[in-house]
Amino acid sequence: MSQFILVLDAGTTSTRAMLFDRAGALHHTTQREFTQHYPQPGWVEHDAAEIWDETLACLRAAIAAAGGRQNVAALGISNQRETVVAWDRGSGEPLARAIVWQDRRTAAFCAELKGRGEEAGVTAKTGLLLDPYFSATKMRWMLDHVPAVGEAAKSGNLVFGTIESWLVFKLSRAHITDASNASRTLLMALDGEGWDADLCELFGVPAGALAEIVDNAGTLAVADGDPAFAGLPICGLAGDQQAATIGQACLSPGETKATYGTGAFVLTNQGTTPPSSGHRLLGTVLYQLDGERHYALEGSVFVAGSLVKWLRDTLGLIESSAETEVLARSVADSGGVVVVPALSGLGAPHWKPEARGVVSGLSFASGRPQIVRAALESMALQTRDLATAFAADGTRWETLRIDGGMAANDWIAQDLADMLDLPVERPAMLETTALGAAMLAAHGCGWYASLEDAAEAMAGQRSRFDPAMDDEARSARIAAWEKALLAV
Ligand code: G3P
Repeated sequence: MSQFILVLDAGTTSTRAMLFDRAGALHHTTQREFTQHYPQPGWVEHDAAEIWDETLACLRAAIAAAGGRQNVAALGISNQRETVVAWDRGSGEPLARAIVWQDRRTAAFCAELKGRGEEAGVTAKTGLLLDPYFSATKMRWMLDHVPAVGEAAKSGNLVFGTIESWLVFKLSRAHITDASNASRTLLMALDGEGWDADLCELFGVPAGALAEIVDNAGTLAVADGDPAFAGLPICGLAGDQQAATIGQACLSPGETKATYGTGAFVLTNQGTTPPSSGHRLLGTVLYQLDGERHYALEGSVFVAGSLVKWLRDTLGLIESSAETEVLARSVADSGGVVVVPALSGLGAPHWKPEARGVVSGLSFASGRPQIVRAALESMALQTRDLATAFAADGTRWETLRIDGGMAANDWIAQDLADMLDLPVERPAMLETTALGAAMLAAHGCGWYASLEDAAEAMAGQRSRFDPAMDDEARSARIAAWEKALLAV
């Protein structure tokens, strides 16, 4: 009997292969980082061939760790969303570097469409906004600026896909995307079955280059080629934030999770009715099973863990991310320093693609501890801006389930509880993104009859952080943050 679900978690800065058992216990992880290309300010690119090579290496290592293909029941994939890969149908090779979700190069095109009064109609259909974050304007940019992409479109050889599509294609030659990923492109109506012809026309994207939209679980494709994994069924697919929502077992309306990875993404389950926000949040597909969609309301913050990486790798202020907790605890407060981490524009609920980061309130007393503490404080402040927008939309959180690399930091978990004035829950196993993909695959391969059964069997224990900050201290932090926001 196959013992494991193998999950590929294709994130923004690294790719991983992990093995989960029927109880959701994690048995193995192989992780490999890949190159981030920043060819111009505001541009972020990945080499899709490198992502595939690294993923393949991880996949082989995980299969070896499982003791062979026969011990793996199914594959699940979770992925960084919105990032666009263009490849040639015949050769299966990329035609250009992938344009990453963080990339702002299409801001002018988005502004032009907004100027033409297109945003309200696009939002009503897709739940999204006209922001460079989403896939459609990135596809259009490639068609207009990369000759190989334009030529492939003319000859009918162009294939567009988000990262899960790319990996499934490389594994199986099937060209599919799941509904959660498709809902991030601007090309699918939240309640529409396939690609929306009017949206494809508006953005100038040929529908023939797009993948077939499928459920999030089931036998979605079967890997072939390499004998190490030939015949392995791909039984779960989801965008990483939707996967984390499932991994946190937020399967009932109102249940909310926040993942602090490269960015920070908060999703509240909204059941089977497509959500619409009056406060600049996003409506998104949480998952689709047997053609039935479940939705979430989402607040997307672009910079979270990437801020710590920037403090470490670019500024050299810290040597390791673990040091941030020590520095934050070494001072009573940030001494008036506020960091607004708009390093790739501001996402929800502000949506300012041209915004740039700000460090305010500096004095001669401001040193490393104050700046690092202010950087960590920006996580709770950004999350609080989302909480305000969610509440204004009628979705008040009762607790917040947190995960992602930064959630391991106890200081951040407590600061979130304090600034949100809410209990914050944290699972013992923080890899909920991968766990969610494992749950989908476990249901999809028949281990569990429903996603709820999979979550029941596989979700782990949580610890809890209760708010302990007085109102005055909280209000002072919020006032300083709101003043700093005016400067971005
Ligand atoms: O929408 C972008 C998101 O999917 C990226 O996730 O985990 O790389 O922060 P992550």
